[in-house]
Amino acid sequence: MDIEKELRENRTRIDSIIESRFPKNIDLEYLKWLAGNSPYLYDPEVIQKTVFDPMWDLLSRGGKRWRPWLFLILANNLGVDLNRFKDLVTIVELLHNGSLIADDIEDGADMRRGDKAIHLKYGLDVAVNLSSAMYFMPLRILMEMDVDKDIYRRLVEAYIEDMIRIHLGQATDIGWHRGLRDPEDIKVEHYLQMCANKTGVLPRLAARFAAILARLSPEDEVKIGKFAESIGIAFQIQDDIINVMGAEKLGKSFGEDITEGKITLMVIYTLSRANEEDKRRLKEILGMHTRDRMLIEEAISILKKYGSIEYAKEFARNIIRRSWEDVEGILPNNEYKEKLRSLANFMVEREF
Ligand code: IPE
Ligand code: IPE
Ligand code: MG
Ligand code: MG
Repeated sequence: MDIEKELRENRTRIDSIIESRFPKNIDLEYLKWLAGNSPYLYDPEVIQKTVFDPMWDLLSRGGKRWRPWLFLILANNLGVDLNRFKDLVTIVELLHNGSLIADDIEDGADMRRGDKAIHLKYGLDVAVNLSSAMYFMPLRILMEMDVDKDIYRRLVEAYIEDMIRIHLGQATDIGWHRGLRDPEDIKVEHYLQMCANKTGVLPRLAARFAAILARLSPEDEVKIGKFAESIGIAFQIQDDIINVMGAEKLGKSFGEDITEGKITLMVIYTLSRANEEDKRRLKEILGMHTRDRMLIEEAISILKKYGSIEYAKEFARNIIRRSWEDVEGILPNNEYKEKLRSLANFMVEREF
C-alpha cells in the first residue's frame, strides 16, 4: 500500500472539510456562527488578519494530516457513519496545528513546515492567542453535532482529558529542556509518559472519537485509545531520530533538538552507556542551547557512538509491533484494518 499517496490524497479531502467550517476568508455572518450573536460590533477584518490568515498560512504549508486520517480509517473500520461525523477531523487537525504554534514558542524554534515559525512571522501576541483559539474554536463543531447526550458527554470528556494531558506532557518536556532535572535521572519510563502525554494524546483523541461514535464500550475505547497513544509515542521517537539525522527533512532548522536541549530516548540511552567524559560533554552541549554547527555535530557524534539511533529505532518498532498485537483482535476484519496497519508502520518507517 502506498501510504504516502494515500496521505496526500487524504490531505486534500481533510482540508476541504476544514475549510467548509473554517474558511480562509471570514465575514460578520461567519463570526456570528462561530461565536454567537453579539450586541455590539465584531471586527472581522482584524480577526481575519490575526486568526484566519496565520492559521491558513500554517495549514497551507503542508503537514501530513495523519491524525485525521487515523480518525477516518478507524471510524470506517468500526462502521461509523462518516456522512454525519466527518467534521470531527477538523477538531483533530486544528488542535494539532494549535499545539505546533505553542510548541514553537516554547521550544524557541524558528522554522515550521519549511517556513518561519508563526510567532516569528506574525508576532508573539498573535501566535499565543491563535494557539489557544485553535484549541477552542473547533469545538463549535461538536456543539452543533446531532448526537445523544451520552455520546456528547463521552466526546467532550475525551477532549478535556486529553487536552489536560497535552499540557502536562509539554510542561514535562519544557522542564527537562530547561535543566530542571539532571538528564541522568530521567528514566525510559519517564520519557515514555512524557511522550504519551505530549504526542500520544492527539492520536488517542482521534481514536477515542471514532470508538465513542461506534458506541464501543468504555473498555474497548480505552484499548483502542492505548493503541493510538502507542503509535504516537513511536512517531515521536522516529521524529527525534530524523531530527538528529537531518532536521531539514522535517522543515526544521539543522540540529534543532540539540539546540533546544531536548531529552530524547537517544540521549537517555547514551547517558546510560557512555563513559564519564562523553556523558559530561553531551550534557554540557545540551545545556548550552547552542546553534554552533561544530558543537551540534559533536553532540550528535556522541549519540551515534553508542548506537543510540539503532536502539531508538528498534524500540519504536517494538512499540508498533506490540500495540498492533493488542488491538488486532478487537478490530473488525475489513480493508480499513489493513490501512490502519500501514499507518502504524508508517510511524516508524517514514523519512519525513
Ligand atoms: C509534529 O507532528 C509534531 C510532533 C508530534 C513531532 P507532525 O510531523 O505530524 O506534523 P505535520 O502536521 O506533519 O507538520
Ligand atoms: C511535539 O513537540 C508535541 C507537540 C507539538 C504538542 P516537539 O517539540 O517534540 O516536536 P517538534 O520537533 O517541534 O515538531
Ligand atoms: Mg518542538
Ligand atoms: Mg516541544
